[in-house]
Amino acid sequence: MSEVKITVRPNGPYRVEGPIKLVDAEGREWDLTGKAAVSLCRCGASVNKPFCDGTHSKMGFQAAEAAVRAEEGSTPGFPVKI
Ligand code: FES
Repeated sequence: MSEVKITVRPNGPYRVEGPIKLVDAEGREWDLTGKAAVSLCRCGASVNKPFCDGTHSKMGFQAAEAAVRAEEGSTPGFPVKI
């Protein structure tokens, strides 16, 4: 099985790479044929949800997160040890 990689983009979307299947609440699948990666909106402002349409940069979306080493006293289960 191939690995899925999710990258938290600075003040932007989640970039998802790998063999993924994306479905809505009713289980209908988006056609991702030919796409090696997708960017999923996390700012809530995209008009093309669940995909990022770049609106986050226009509205000045800011997120504060970064993976820290488990030894630094993170919350159990998050973030993972790097
Ligand atoms: S994260 Fe890009 S539009 Fe929301």
